Amino acid sequence: MIEIDNLVKIYKLSKKQMAKEKLKEGRKVAVNGVSFKAEKGEIFGLLGPNGAGKTTTLRCISTLLKPTSGTVKVDSYDTVTQSREVRGKIGFLTNEINLDPQFTPKYMFDFFGKMHGVPEDVIEERRKELFDYFGITSFEDKKVSELSTGMKQKASIAVSLVHDPEIVIFDEPTSGLDIITARQVTDYLKKLRDNGKSVIISTHIMSEAEKLCDRLAVIINGQKVAEGTVEEIKASTGGSDLEEAFFVLYKENVTEEVQ
Ligand SMILES: Nc1ncnc2c1ncn2[C@@H]1O[C@H](COP(=O)(O)OP(=O)(O)OP(=O)(O)O)[C@@H](O)[C@H]1O
Ligand SMILES: [Mg+2]
Repeated sequence: MIEIDNLVKIYKLSKKQMAKEKLKEGRKVAVNGVSFKAEKGEIFGLLGPNGAGKTTTLRCISTLLKPTSGTVKVDSYDTVTQSREVRGKIGFLTNEINLDPQFTPKYMFDFFGKMHGVPEDVIEERRKELFDYFGITSFEDKKVSELSTGMKQKASIAVSLVHDPEIVIFDEPTSGLDIITARQVTDYLKKLRDNGKSVIISTHIMSEAEKLCDRLAVIINGQKVAEGTVEEIKASTGGSDLEEAFFVLYKENVTEEVQ
């Protein structure tokens, strides 16, 4: 289970960043008091526009960023004071490809498996299963630098699952993938959910959120503006589908800020 309580993340900006983003203030509030719980056996989605704070939230859960205030717990372990325990439990996929260009998918998979302390025979077994499922076997011995964006994404997904993590955190899991591979990924996430894992994803694709997520938090400008099942969010906003509901929420919350 993932429990987020009043999470705030403020980035300190360099002079260069301030100039680039035309900001007068040296800080950017990326996440502003977000709380939610994502349970085992569900796919929880963070839905929001560009810059809403989704990646920042997922990075705080993954121990890569320290919250400015508030707490994040993964299976009761605190991501700041018990980060090592948390890291053993999570599989994190980010769309900033983190595979080393000079190595092969096979090498990377085995390397991360060993790093997580997975026995060699189990690594081999999981590699066969995941590489076969995601269609990686045919390019498992090619250098990462020679792979296409989609191939790299598939390899990253497999590598992030090497240790069979209890909690799967995927930042925009289908970005850059064709519809066939995207479907394989979403089907795999459902399989993980059905096996009792906690899955949390970020997306700005309404149809993906609608089809895949058991519950959602809608994030706008670093704040949670709605939470619930797709049906609950539709009912609370009067939207006929998720896209309509999202626009109702967006209008309410963005206009408020301008006033
Ligand atoms: N390292 C950083 N330093 C300064 N500001 C940052 C940094 N990372 C993100 N931000 C800012 O924080 C805000 C939230 O960014 P974040 O990447 O969490 O959004 P997001 O919801 O994932 O957006 P997207 O859909 O575009 O991926 C944005 O305004 C962004 O410019
Ligand atoms: Mg993002």
